[in-house]
Amino acid sequence: MQPKMFEIPKIGAPSLGYISVIQNGNDLPFEVKRVYWTYFTPNHVERGNHAHINLQQLIIAVSGVIDFTLIDRERNRYDFTLDSPEKVLYVPNGYWREIRFSHSAVLLCLASDTYDEKDYIRDPDLFFNA
Ligand code: TYD
Repeated sequence: MQPKMFEIPKIGAPSLGYISVIQNGNDLPFEVKRVYWTYFTPNHVERGNHAHINLQQLIIAVSGVIDFTLIDRERNRYDFTLDSPEKVLYVPNGYWREIRFSHSAVLLCLASDTYDEKDYIRDPDLFFNA
């Protein structure tokens, strides 16, 4: 599978606000087993810098702007800007990621599995040169 960004329809109106929904049988490419969120990341900090062996993720910037770069083992780069809560980024397994955040950005992640440090590749040499 390739990384891809897609949009979830907004239900609502400017006068009311919006709700967007992802649920089983509709837009979910995997069963969600974990949800986590990151916040208060300073602008100058780059997070990520790892790949996952098996984990798949859906990423949403519920607030702020998040720049997400995915790199495969052949060093092809895929750049995405999550700048609206209706945008969803599908991150397949096997991609190195570099993530930058605007002030006050909140990243919501829906993940295909529970946390397992053994699923991480944190050494770029192991990922790109193995
Ligand atoms: P990490 O996935 O490396 O975050 P990022 O790529 O955004 O910098 O996780 C940071 C720390 O949090 C690391 O020590 C592992 C821990 N962690 C958990 O304990 N459970 C989780 O579900 C996640 C995502 C991270």
